[in-house]
Amino acid sequence: MEFAQKPLFPPSQITTERLVLRLPHMRDAASVFHAYMSDIDVTRHLLWRPHESPETTRFFLANTTVAWAEGEGHRPWVIEERGHADPVPLGMIGTTIAGHAMEIGYVLRSDAQGRGYMTEALNAVVQTACLSAEIIRIFATCHPENIASQRLLERCEFIREGRLRKFQVYPNISGEPTDVFLYARVCE
Ligand SMILES: CC(C)(COP(=O)(O)OP(=O)(O)OC[C@H]1O[C@@H](n2cnc3c(N)ncnc32)[C@H](O)[C@@H]1OP(=O)(O)O)[C@@H](O)C(=O)NCCC(=O)NCCS
Repeated sequence: MEFAQKPLFPPSQITTERLVLRLPHMRDAASVFHAYMSDIDVTRHLLWRPHESPETTRFFLANTTVAWAEGEGHRPWVIEERGHADPVPLGMIGTTIAGHAMEIGYVLRSDAQGRGYMTEALNAVVQTACLSAEIIRIFATCHPENIASQRLLERCEFIREGRLRKFQVYPNISGEPTDVFLYARVCE
């Protein structure tokens, strides 16, 4: 691919072979709440508690709408399967950018896991980010017991840079700060 100008990142949409990554809307609240935001198992290794009501999901979506409009903060895409007349959100993948560094986070509904979807979504986000002029480093943190996330990151050529001691509280596991693995990939 050649560009007269480097493309701006993050774009509002990214398309892969099987998926579309698109902007979230307030009308996604009910479907993403039921799909995964209220799921205790899916959210176990995430930094937020499962949503207790669609109202909490609406609050989250309202914040993401502001983040996308203002071009800062956590900006997630909704992941959907391509080619559906009435697609159902499968999950989200999102970025938080600070200078040349981008943190990435992701989640999939349980019945969409294990099919290579997040490998496809993460690789697409990394490739798109690396085409931009701004992003040079892409990183993610994960709980040491989150094997699926570690396998995903390694499959997408992220390197484990270390163990950050007592770095995060995972509220669905314990109220105490715990160690996390730091993974990163650089654009070359
Ligand atoms: C982490 C997550 C996004 C992975 O997405 P996915 O689409 O299921 O992953 P893929 O199918 O692309 O597979 C990526 C790798 O993870 C492995 N994997 C997927 N689910 C797994 C599981 N439950 N246990 C162990 N490994 C798993 C796959 O086998 C593959 O590794 P491989 O190359 O060794 O075969 C998904 O499990 C998820 O949403 N988990 C809950 C939310 C979460 O933990 N987010 C990350 C926070 S850091």
